[in-house]
This record gives sequence, C-alpha cells and structure tokens, in this order.
Amino acid sequence: MLIKRNPNGIDLPFASEITPRAIFESRRAFIQKIALGSIAGGALLEMATREAFAATTAAQKLVATANPAYVVLDKPTSYKDATTYNNFYEFGTDKESPSRYAAAMKTRPWTLTIEGEVKKPMTLDIDSLLKLAPLEERIYRLRCVEGWSMVIPWSGYSLAELIKKVEPTSNAKYVEFVTAEDKEAMHGLRRAVLDWPYVEGLRIDEANHPLTLLTLGMYGEVLPNQNGAPVRVIVPWKYGFKSAKSIVKIRFVRDQPRTAWNLAAPREYGFYSNVNPQVDHPRWSQASERRIGEDGLFAKKRPTLMFNGYNQVASLYTGMDLKKFF
Ligand code: MTE
Repeated sequence: MLIKRNPNGIDLPFASEITPRAIFESRRAFIQKIALGSIAGGALLEMATREAFAATTAAQKLVATANPAYVVLDKPTSYKDATTYNNFYEFGTDKESPSRYAAAMKTRPWTLTIEGEVKKPMTLDIDSLLKLAPLEERIYRLRCVEGWSMVIPWSGYSLAELIKKVEPTSNAKYVEFVTAEDKEAMHGLRRAVLDWPYVEGLRIDEANHPLTLLTLGMYGEVLPNQNGAPVRVIVPWKYGFKSAKSIVKIRFVRDQPRTAWNLAAPREYGFYSNVNPQVDHPRWSQASERRIGEDGLFAKKRPTLMFNGYNQVASLYTGMDLKKFF
C-alpha cells in the first residue's frame, strides 16, 4: 500500500498456480444457484451444506450455513490464490510472506477483549466466539485499495451480534479494532512500516450494519493464519485495509480512532475508505480493478463499483461529501 517501490501502486501479480478445491467450487456454485432462486428451500440448503462439509477432509473444518442473502454471483477466487496472495504486514510487506511466515503465530489460546464505552465489557476465548451466534457463510467481494479484488466465502456472523451482548453506552460513537502484536512470530514488526499494532476503526452504525462480518473462517474451514486467524472483521464495502486481521481487542470509544494507515499516510488513506471509483488514490485511479485469478496478459480489468456494489450501505452516508470524507 504505502510502499513506493512500484510507481503505479499496483503490485505485480503473484503467479497463480491454481489447484482449485473441486469440492469448494461445486458447493459455491450450488449456493449461488440458490441465491439466484433456481433451487429453493432452507432444508435443501442445509442438507447440501452438510453434505459438502462431510465430503471435505480438511482437519479444521467449520460448519456454517450458507446465507443466500449475502452471496455475490461472481466466480469465487480459488482457495490457493486467496491464501497465498495476502496483505498482512506484520509478516512482511510482499504478497507471499504472510503464507510463508504466518504459521509461526499461535492462534490458540486466544482471547478477544471488548471494552470501553460498554455496559458489559467481556473477554471471550475463541470457542465462546464460535458459539456466540450461528455461523453463516457469506460470499463477499473484497476490493483492495491497491486495485485488485477477490471473491471469498467467509464464515462468521454479523458483528452486531457481538455488539448487542456488550451493550454499548450512548457515548460509544466509534469502534476500534486492535490487532495482535506478537513480536516473536511477526518479524514484520521490526520494521516501522506502520505504527504497530495495526489498528482500524468504524463508526458505530457501520460496525452495526449487518454486512459487517465478525469472521472466523473461510472456504468452510477456520481462517488460515495468513488471512487473519483466529478472528477478523470483513467490511466488504470498504477497501480491504479496513478489514483488520487477528483482532485481540475491540474498543468502543467516543472519538474517531487513529488508524494505522491513516496515521502513516493521511492524504492517501482516509478513515472512511469506502470503495469509491470517483475518488482516486493520490497516486493511482480507483476506477477499475483486477480480479485475482483473472490476471492473464489480456485479462480485462473490471469497473469498480460504488461501495464495491453494496448499495445497501448508501444510507449510512446520506448528506456526507464522500470526496471530503474519503
Ligand atoms: N490486518 C492486519 N492486522 N495487518 C495487515 O497488514 N492488511 C489489510 C487487511 N487487514 C492487514 C490487515 C489489507 S491492506 C488487506 S487488502 C486485507 O487485510 C487483505 O486480506 P486477505 O489477505 O485476507 O485478502
């Protein structure tokens, strides 16, 4: 992101050695058909979901029920691409480093502390988080500020489910996500690329929007470390850097939090960072994007959609000048 080594601001594609997980791909197609209405019925869906899970042999599978209300119909990115082309600067700034080094991070035991302007502060371990609400699978588009995007089946539940348990006070105007700072496992922390730990934030109504997903898995498994294990948020209408990985603390606060990227380069990374093709990054256009996995020499870029296509969030910003609040 901030790295100036490439004047276009766009990283070179990582060679995609696609070995798609046939089982995931066929299951995704099925779920997408349901979303299109060509197959109906909750029971059928539940059955198919269970069958698909039974067929997978991965050790750390995670049972989640597909929620057809949150399914984009684009072809999902292959598991291989989604787990080897990553941004996780704590493990290095290139795309390959997270998958190479993140295994060193211990994700159990892990606790998430929720504090600040809440009536019921709490600290939860991962097992309690997994049980806090029914796990749903949602296929979301994720658009990185660098100009590429992926389509990923995530598992989790709306962050709003957790928010209602802690009962925010009327002073809670913003939510801050503080992520892990594991000096032993994360060699990237030795470089002052960002002001560590990586911190992100949302306005309380954005955090409460049902699209905001407290995420514990992807492709029917627990999150791989490089994708933010064991718990992260996915905020699909914002640039990818708002989707903080490996969260240890969620703080409810009165004032807009200082976020890692905004502190590093305030002119380039605003607090809101809604996907917006009309607001260019100071060093490159945001009008189009490259879909990872479609990056052959002649592959066409796709036009970037306002709010990444999630128009249901538009009302959160009524009356705001989104060029000023970028
Ligand atoms: N979270 C932490 N803790 N550290 C990071 O460097 N990178 C962000 C975001 N969350 C990042 C992070 C950026 S820039 C992007 S695009 C997404 O994670 C990438 O998520 P993915 O690797 O799962 O696709």
